[in-house]
Amino acid sequence: MSDKKDIILVVEDDHGLQRQLKWSFSDLQVELAGNRDEAIAALRLHEPKVITLDLGLPPDPDGTSEGFALLEQILNLTPNAKVIVASGHQARDSALKAIAGGAWDFYQKPIDADELNLIVNRAFHVAHLEAENRRYQALESNSALGGLITASEPMLKVCRMIERVAPTDASIILLGASGTGKELLARALHDLSDRSNGPFVAINCAAIPENLLESELFGYEKGAFTGAVKQTLGKIELAQNGTLFLDEVGDIPLPLQVKLLRFLQERVVERIGGRKEIPVDVRIICATHQNLPTMIEDGSFREDLFYRLAEISVNIPPLKDREGDAVLLARSFLNRFSADMKRTIKGFTPDAVRAISGHDWPGNVRELENKIKRAAIMADGDYVAIDDLDLVTSDDTLTALNLKHVREEADKAALRQALSESANNISKTAKLLGVSRPTLYGLLKQYDMTPT
Ligand SMILES: Nc1ncnc2c1ncn2[C@@H]1O[C@H](COP(=O)(O)OP(=O)(O)OP(=O)(O)O)[C@@H](O)[C@H]1O
Ligand SMILES: [Mg+2]
Repeated sequence: MSDKKDIILVVEDDHGLQRQLKWSFSDLQVELAGNRDEAIAALRLHEPKVITLDLGLPPDPDGTSEGFALLEQILNLTPNAKVIVASGHQARDSALKAIAGGAWDFYQKPIDADELNLIVNRAFHVAHLEAENRRYQALESNSALGGLITASEPMLKVCRMIERVAPTDASIILLGASGTGKELLARALHDLSDRSNGPFVAINCAAIPENLLESELFGYEKGAFTGAVKQTLGKIELAQNGTLFLDEVGDIPLPLQVKLLRFLQERVVERIGGRKEIPVDVRIICATHQNLPTMIEDGSFREDLFYRLAEISVNIPPLKDREGDAVLLARSFLNRFSADMKRTIKGFTPDAVRAISGHDWPGNVRELENKIKRAAIMADGDYVAIDDLDLVTSDDTLTALNLKHVREEADKAALRQALSESANNISKTAKLLGVSRPTLYGLLKQYDMTPT
């Protein structure tokens, strides 16, 4: 969540009440409007999620016609806004009518600040949840970033960047730890580009033995080497008019880096054993979990190649830095896996949710996906329990939370200090610690400590 205050629009023609309302929403940014025009202007300018609306507005301050007209207009302009209607003394009926017309809730005058705050806070809470949900659905239904689930600011930023750079032909390097979604984003880049009708060809440079990588990339003619029984196109050529995704590009050996650089400069390939230069039009996207600048420094990656490949770099944040995403993803994976397995698992126990959001996920989304798959198999009830997740808590937290261990460490520290203060005199040490000599001997033996 950002630190920016939520904005509430208060539509109220009575200046005294305006002040009172402003004062009671001290945690919010309060915008005031005294009539319909001011209200519409403020609505356009501030896009408040929550609005309080006095139905009795000029030119009909004693009736409700102006208030109802404004309510309708507000809901047309911002259907998601939560409008809280103020009802006068015996105007409960109009409040109910307003709710039937789309208002979110009502409060009765005279104002009870606590009660009103309760209503307003709940409205903001629901508005935020709905906004998050809409964002999530927008991503789900957006065909290109379709499978991508996130509601966290840093990852949404990455999505916006992907959308912006996709239509260009710039080469893009995706930087992120394993399982952060590099391949998913590479595909999204392709799908959102003008090349989406062309092929998307991926090659994992780390998974192919060094001596085969060259022929995989560049292809070969029949008889080019022993075993080259027929002409074979390389991945670069196969990606003609499409996108070539070089995964784990940091693993390309230096001699091949030279060859790749030449391709990027000339945009032609020569198959191994061939004599022809074949023009190839591809857009290059690459990814790595390695630190290329360090590799450049120690000479294992060519700087000139790096600049060709990385016209634009996109840093993909690790899952632990995407607030709220682990649980969001977990729910989505659970739905998917339980449907695949024809099981009806309703969700997670509260403990399991806490464990998911508290885990560090060193293997990122891939690890989460695997754990949820396992959990969907293991769960025996309606809900996935914490044990089904099989999350290994790191040793540090385990040790820190182990009371026995904490006590032992404290005992040992006290023993050491007392021994040193009393210059290893057993009687004095026992006295300092408030224990008998036999107890002290027992402790020293237990902790394998001997006064030196
Ligand atoms: N934001 C996301 N929403 C939904 N699914 C995701 C998301 N990010 C990743 N995934 C899924 O997690 C898995 C791992 O993603 P992907 O293969 O793209 O990661 P990667 O960074 O290429 O991983 P690796 O380093 O292991 O190759 C895939 O099944 C992918 O569909
Ligand atoms: Mg990958």
